[in-house]
Formats: sequence, C-alpha cells, structure tokens
Amino acid sequence: METLFSGIQPSGIPTIGNYIGALKQFSDVQDDYNCYFCIVDQHAITVPQDRLKLRKQIRQLAAIYLASGIDPEKSTLFIQSEVPAHVQASWMLTTIASIGELERMTQFKDKSQKQVEGVPAGLLTYPPLMAADIVIYNTNIVPVGEDQKQHIELTRNLVDRFNSRYNDILIKPEIRMPKVGGRVMSLQDPTKKMSKSDDNQKNFISLLDEPNVAAKKIKSAVTDSDGVIKFDREQKPGVTNLLSIYSSLTDESIEDLVSKYKDSNYGTFKADLAEVVKEFLTDFQAKYNDYYNSDKLDDILDDGRDKAHKASFKTLKKMEKAMGLGRKR
Ligand code: TYM
Repeated sequence: METLFSGIQPSGIPTIGNYIGALKQFSDVQDDYNCYFCIVDQHAITVPQDRLKLRKQIRQLAAIYLASGIDPEKSTLFIQSEVPAHVQASWMLTTIASIGELERMTQFKDKSQKQVEGVPAGLLTYPPLMAADIVIYNTNIVPVGEDQKQHIELTRNLVDRFNSRYNDILIKPEIRMPKVGGRVMSLQDPTKKMSKSDDNQKNFISLLDEPNVAAKKIKSAVTDSDGVIKFDREQKPGVTNLLSIYSSLTDESIEDLVSKYKDSNYGTFKADLAEVVKEFLTDFQAKYNDYYNSDKLDDILDDGRDKAHKASFKTLKKMEKAMGLGRKR
C-alpha cells in the first residue's frame, strides 16, 4: 500500500479554505493509503506564537482532523514536535538546500515582508522541514491546496539532489490537489487567498465560527455589480469563489449550480450558500465538540506519536548512514 502524508499548522483555527483544500480530501483516501496526518506545530513557530494559545490550537486541530472524518483506526494522527525525526531529517535537507532557492519561495517572500522585528531564519528554512516531514515516511502522495505547490516542487528537487549525491533511498512524492477549491479566496478581497491568520475576521470563515456569524459573512461577501452568476476567475473572482465553496460543500458541480441560479440574483444565491455553510458548520461543530471534550483525544495522539516515531526512525537512520553521520554499527 502506498503512503500519504499531509500537515496543517496550528497557527489559528482552520478555515473552510483549509477544509475544502485539504481536510475534505483526507477522509476519502484512508482506505486506499497508509495515511499520516500531522499537526505541524514546529512550522507554526516560524512566526511568533502565544504559548498558551498555541497549546490550545494544537488540541483543537486534533479534534478538527477527527471531526473531518480522520479515523484513528485507519490513519496515524500525531503532533510534529513529539516525533524527533522531523527536525533531525530537516537539518540534513537544509544542508543540501541553497539559500537562493529558499529565498525564491513565495510564502517566504510574503511572510518575511510582514515581519517588523527582523526575519526569523526559520521562515527561510521552513521548506526543508516540510520536505523532511514528507520523506521520512517514504511518502508517495501529498494532498494539499494550491499554495503548497511550490513547496512540494522544492521537496521533489531536494529528493533528487539527496539521492544523486548520497544514496538512492528517498521516495519522490507526487502532489494531489482538489479539482475544485484548491485555492479558496478571501470573502472581502477575492483576489487574495483565504487565510486562518488574516487580521480581518470578515475575510475568512473559521471552522469554529458560530454558524449564524458565518452565514452573515457569506451574505456580506464581496461580489461585483453585473448580477450574473457564472464561473470566471479573472472577471468575477468573488462570485467564482462562492461557487467553488458551494460546489465543494454540496458536491454539486459548478455547471449544475450555474444553471440552477441562471435566473436568480446574488441575494438569493448568497442566502442559499449561507444556509449550506450554516448547516455544514452546525454538523461539523457537533462532532468537533465530542472529540475535543473526549478523554480519548490524548490516547489517539499518544498512539499516533508512537506509530509515527517507529515509521520515521527507519528512514532517518538510512539518511544518516547515507550521509556518513555517527558511527557504523
Ligand atoms: P497550512 O496550515 O497553511 O494549510 C493547511 C492546508 O490547507 C491548504 N489551504 C488552502 N486550500 C484552499 N484554499 C485556501 N485558501 C487554503 N489555505 C490553506 C494548504 O494548501 C494545506 O494543504 N506548509 C503547510 C503545512 C505542512 C505540510 C507539510 C503540508 C507542513 N509540512 C507536509 C503537506 C506536507 C502549511 O502551511 O499549510
């Protein structure tokens, strides 16, 4: 069976963008792959975090993974910082990455511009850590949203470099992106990506937003003035974004939605989508609350840590051997 790995940062509460771009795909693949789902807390600290808030968000993210349908009997759910091989392998990959290629990452450019008190070095070395996350499990498939494409391409380059320079031991992973919703946009500025760390609450819908509040955010989302409901990323980014969200949450195709609303105005369309989002969140949050308050959560994470440790340790040792680290035993 092939292996699949993906991660989410506990740097805030995941948005419906994270759900549509990533979480929604995860539960469907559990029977077909040996799956690892990670709470990447070491990635989250590449920008300053509040200690207590981070701890809480880690737990919340674990319950969110489970509420999205991750079954701990089938998949391994764990916290990155509890499995030491991630940073150990990351250091090795950092030594083969070039500063130039890391500086070219768009996420580095965006995030470093926002730093007022100097750019943390971890922002630059973030991609080799992400590559390490992936390669230590001998991952074949990485399901992610569109914004991670560049990081996966870099991972593939690092794998080639490692294999040709040392020993051919790392597997080159393939990216998998959703057909619709790979890039859910901000509700107030649909030319910008929806992000969980956005300062403006109206730009995103968090998976833990009160459902009525989320419905209001949909109703006040920015559209345009021509009143036609059609899919056109360039000319109609707002309506296109709402169509993608609608299609992902209901599994109705974009074409069917466009024809369903061809004689309707934006008000009716948005009111219907607001209702879809409200129902989705009500159902999601009921499951979330059960997991968040359950004693089982720690057992699931303990078990996940042990399984992930065992699996990653083997590849880590092979990498160390290939590079000549430590002693021969
Ligand atoms: P993160 O935490 O920013 O996002 C988690 C997942 O959600 C996707 N995503 C989106 N999809 C659609 N529309 C959006 N607006 C949107 N925003 C985010 C992301 O593409 C991602 O799939 N570096 C990663 C975490 C990571 C990782 C990994 C992922 C660390 N190591 C190894 C895969 C494999 C990140 O910051 O994701």
